[in-house]
Amino acid sequence: MSGTNNEKETIHEHEEEVATDDSNLTDKQKARLKYLAERAGVTYEEAVSTNMSQRRLKKMASSIRYAEILQSKRKEEKEKRKTFRKLQREAGQLIQKERKTRTLMKDSNNKVCVAIDLSFDGLMSNKDKKKLRKQLLRCYSCNRSSEAPLQLYLTSVGDEIISEFEGAGNMGFDNWDVHVSSKSYLDVFNHMKSEKGIIYLTRDSENVLPSSDVIRESAGQKVYIIGGLVDHNTLKGFTLEKAKKEGIEHARLPIDEYMKMLRSQVLTVNHVFELMLLVSQGTSWADALEKVIPQRKRKPECRKAVGASKTSAISEQSDSDSSTDDESNDRKRLKHEISEHSSS
Ligand SMILES: C[S@@+](CC[C@H](N)C(=O)[O-])C[C@H]1O[C@@H](n2cnc3c(N)ncnc32)[C@H](O)[C@@H]1O
Repeated sequence: MSGTNNEKETIHEHEEEVATDDSNLTDKQKARLKYLAERAGVTYEEAVSTNMSQRRLKKMASSIRYAEILQSKRKEEKEKRKTFRKLQREAGQLIQKERKTRTLMKDSNNKVCVAIDLSFDGLMSNKDKKKLRKQLLRCYSCNRSSEAPLQLYLTSVGDEIISEFEGAGNMGFDNWDVHVSSKSYLDVFNHMKSEKGIIYLTRDSENVLPSSDVIRESAGQKVYIIGGLVDHNTLKGFTLEKAKKEGIEHARLPIDEYMKMLRSQVLTVNHVFELMLLVSQGTSWADALEKVIPQRKRKPECRKAVGASKTSAISEQSDSDSSTDDESNDRKRLKHEISEHSSS
């Protein structure tokens, strides 16, 4: 039985006038309020004294209900898995999954430094900020699951991005194996500046990054900065200008040299990171590009025959501009990485 508009109005009017007194309500209205308060997990007196509207009570009730359903579903699934494992064990089929040992950055022999510059918050729409967060999750996840993770830094980290990550299922940076700083990369790597060790990666530079060997040899003396920017190329040349103003080095990836792209050579943050990770581990640029650049972004002559490779499928999947993106998969993967990190 739902209250009529008149009843609702009376409750609101009454709440505005005498918040702690329900004497103006009819018995029917009181009963309705009691019913809703009970479902919302508050007492009738609390509901009246704190001016809770029917709508608020209903919302509270439905979120309680939703949490209950979720909990029982989880329990059900856990039970199913348990039964399934038991059956497998009984049938002698249980294959013990080998726990993958993860290498922490501090234990990694890969000392190449890459920083993602997160100073562009003010230049992105909320939608693009969300895309960027997704790309960051991919960078992290890919580094974390690698046998030789590189030294990943996030610089100019602002409150907004921190609270966004904390809000999304307690995945705040505290549990990440990553160097996080609210300072600019210029401050974090100040000691490298005079040695021309800070190199901003930007498509618009006339300089080209050197070979994998050279990058590996200069590990610890150079840091490669990726612009944490999703701009659909509306801010062409922006990071190049930034690097020039700051008097630091800049370079583009050697894409032209190895691959013909269908359109732009501006890559997403995660693709640039994945390339840097592979190259820092000794993979040649040619092979790294082959693995990372999605087929659909290449000119037809640079595409593989259908079914020829599985690696390209992975990178297609990791292209965060793709419409088939599944953020919840990213989150699941990240949660997994973080839980592995916390327990290692
Ligand atoms: C989506 S792009 C942003 C493009 C932006 N208009 C700019 O001025 O950099 C994100 C970042 O990836 C890096 N990036 C993308 N493509 C690159 C390329 N071909 N060479 C070097 N860096 C690249 C740059 O650091 C860039 O800031």
